[in-house]
Amino acid sequence: MGASYYDGLLPVRDPGSGLPGVVSGIRPPYRVTASVAVPAGRIVIAFVSDSAELSRMFAANWAPAEAGARPDATLCALTGPASGYGLADHWDRARWWSPRDQVMLALGFGSYRLVKVCVRGICSAVSADDTVFVHGCTLTIGAGADRRGVVITGTSGAGKTTLVAGLLRQREYHVEVLDDDWGPVSLRTGQAASTGEQMLHMKTGSVLALRPGFFGAAPDGTYARDQSDPDRSARMLVSPRSVYGAAWRTAAAAIAHVAVLVREPPGWRPPGSDSEAVRALEDEGDAGLIHHHEMFLNGSLILTTENDKSREEQRYRRLLSRTKLSWINNSGTPQDLTRDFIAAVMSRDSR
Ligand SMILES: Nc1ncnc2c1ncn2[C@@H]1O[C@H](COP(=O)(O)OP(=O)(O)O)[C@@H](O)[C@H]1O
Ligand SMILES: [Mg+2]
Repeated sequence: MGASYYDGLLPVRDPGSGLPGVVSGIRPPYRVTASVAVPAGRIVIAFVSDSAELSRMFAANWAPAEAGARPDATLCALTGPASGYGLADHWDRARWWSPRDQVMLALGFGSYRLVKVCVRGICSAVSADDTVFVHGCTLTIGAGADRRGVVITGTSGAGKTTLVAGLLRQREYHVEVLDDDWGPVSLRTGQAASTGEQMLHMKTGSVLALRPGFFGAAPDGTYARDQSDPDRSARMLVSPRSVYGAAWRTAAAAIAHVAVLVREPPGWRPPGSDSEAVRALEDEGDAGLIHHHEMFLNGSLILTTENDKSREEQRYRRLLSRTKLSWINNSGTPQDLTRDFIAAVMSRDSR
């Protein structure tokens, strides 16, 4: 799978009380607030850091929060080790999240992809019980009465981007994309919202899969290479329109279907019931076995207690109780994948 989001990502621990005091004692010089749209409103995240680069990327990635908006949560990402801030060494061994104060402190952060994973986890942690954030692409397919919202999920490398690129090549499918790789769904109304990201943080390979010839055609200002990544050509911040063109549509859409992509041997049989499905979603992915980052295919959950885990389970049960669910085994060619997806999602009875 190569370098994944989860490389170098430490487990999350609760420091008990006093984390806001620790952060304000450090006085990081940069502070940016951003707004993540959810179906019922928005989540405001304050990002504080001693990295000008990470602060600039955070501000470019997200929509700005309204002036004076009170943050729902704060992420403090510092570039150096704990000793550089007068803290004891044990602070280096985890990312510290206080559910009471809704503050996360992470040390030794140089890469923006680590910031992104923390933002995702924090959003799941602070959002209401009736909102679930899903890892994957949210899109609508079909026109008129046939139009339906679909979440395409699956672990990193399962083939999500390959499938979306295949779908976008066929105009007759009428595909419109709300969220590229992560987004919220209301469990009360079934509506998915676009997160409102101004620039998407994407793998360069994904941009090229979706828009071959991107670098020859993209006007200045539509993308910036991620200089914070150890491999500077690996990722970029890119305007959604320059990748998806007119297919980028930020209007909310009702989700009718969840499609889970897996890469298993031909003949693999999917879970039979919703309970088994939730269990499989929870366990999917090798990365999950160590730190549970891929649990529920969310890719970034903060699950420090059993309660956090059962809350997420409930969210997935509620999501699956109101949508159709298809497991699609990406064991053939990309063309097979597109065909299998269309057959599953556009059929009348796809369970
Ligand atoms: N059916 C397939 N046949 C060959 N290569 C594939 C297939 N599906 C995906 N890939 C390749 O596997 C890698 C991961 O796929 P990708 O679509 O980026 O996954 P995801 O978006 O789920 O992380 C890419 O290099 C892609 O080209
Ligand atoms: Mg992808």
